[in-house]
Amino acid sequence: MTVTAAVAPQLMVNPRLEILGGHRLSGELRVSGAKNSALVLMAACLLSTQPLRLRNIPPLTDIAAMGEILGAFGVKVERGADWIELDGAHLTHSTAPYELVNSLRASFFCIGPLLARLGVAKIPLPGGCQIGSRPVIEHVRGLKALGAQVTIDHGVVSAVVPGRGHRLHGGHIHLECPSVGATETLMMAAALADGETVIHNAALEPEVVDLASLLIAMGGKVRGAGTPTITIVGVERLHGADYAVIPDRIEAGTFLLAAAITRSELRVAPLIPDHLGAVLSKLEEAGCSLEADGIGMTIRADRIEALDLRTQPFPGFPTDLQAPFMSLLATASGTSMVVETIFENRLQHVAELQRMGASIRMQGNTAFVEGVARLSGAPVQGTDLRASAAMVLAGLAADGTTSVQGLEFLDRGYADLEGKLNSVGAVIRRVHG
Ligand code: UD1
Repeated sequence: MTVTAAVAPQLMVNPRLEILGGHRLSGELRVSGAKNSALVLMAACLLSTQPLRLRNIPPLTDIAAMGEILGAFGVKVERGADWIELDGAHLTHSTAPYELVNSLRASFFCIGPLLARLGVAKIPLPGGCQIGSRPVIEHVRGLKALGAQVTIDHGVVSAVVPGRGHRLHGGHIHLECPSVGATETLMMAAALADGETVIHNAALEPEVVDLASLLIAMGGKVRGAGTPTITIVGVERLHGADYAVIPDRIEAGTFLLAAAITRSELRVAPLIPDHLGAVLSKLEEAGCSLEADGIGMTIRADRIEALDLRTQPFPGFPTDLQAPFMSLLATASGTSMVVETIFENRLQHVAELQRMGASIRMQGNTAFVEGVARLSGAPVQGTDLRASAAMVLAGLAADGTTSVQGLEFLDRGYADLEGKLNSVGAVIRRVHG
């Protein structure tokens, strides 16, 4: 049979994970540095003429993409196994290419530090993504409050600071919703502004606190990160720093769920319990036993009970663990209710879980999940990063083989997920084509 040229590439390039389900896990899983923190901390290199060295950097494609974007501004990037050094001494461009920003939404957050350092920045609108429309209006409103003139034309956000010194000035910003990205963009912008900035209704996420700690390590003046009111007193210049990124709370949560869905005992480390409060209490409510030991946590799971959960900004239940937790609830005894309140299109994994035998009824942004005795292996598609992780978890617990496609999403946020899970007893094979 002849395969036509138009069809051949699709047939050949279809990398997937094949998971043979039903294996108990045991041992210890190591958590990498936080992707979402690392991406934003990398952008902070734009604020200084001195090198920024970041440690505990996870080996992810998103990190490489951010390095490429910073390189387009003139930053020199050097990368090792788990560190990255960023030298922003000589910035050559204040404009980011569309293709790069479109491939990594978080790169839009560079607009804050670029503007603070150069007085001008042009970044294409990142657009929506698989999970929703994802506006950036809060970033733009905040930058205007700091004195920037911002226009949006032909899909590009152009910002300039008028006046002789092209320096932003401090101001009061009230975020309409506690956007993580807007809080981070504005903290970086305010770090080099003239005077004091107060961000009201700021995001409380641990990644915001990590950014504040880095800015302080660079000589910045930041108070109140982790509370709804963050005060930043701008300084003339920031210096370099050597800084370790916090552990990834979403990867840690995914590992705890891997233990729960396989009814296993696992130690997950390093893990900061305060970063996972809502998730840990839901795991306990589901019947898991948890034991913290200072650096990590041991989870033991046997019978899993149904429960209700609703995603919320931190310290509420994180939207990034909604899909993985739903995989667990699909195997619980009883009917659970899961409400997604943060992103309008983040329940696409429901259809894929149903293909694996899950019993789920949808009503708007709410899923009613009736647990079944066994999921059954099937070919499934991860529709975004966390949905892909949810499919892997479901595959661990399912009868037979689950084939998960959509690895381009998974590899953005999980460092060698199959290698780590295989090291504790999972049977997962990456098939390249
Ligand atoms: C970050 C995380 C992402 C996580 C999300 C919510 C990074 C790189 N990504 O994304 O993994 O899922 O937080 O915890 O850190 N919103 C507006 N207007 C705006 C900005 C946001 O209405 O101008 C809304 C969004 O539509 C959404 C909510 O605010 O409903 C939260 O979004 P936001 O906190 O901004 O998410 P990100 O920072 O993009």
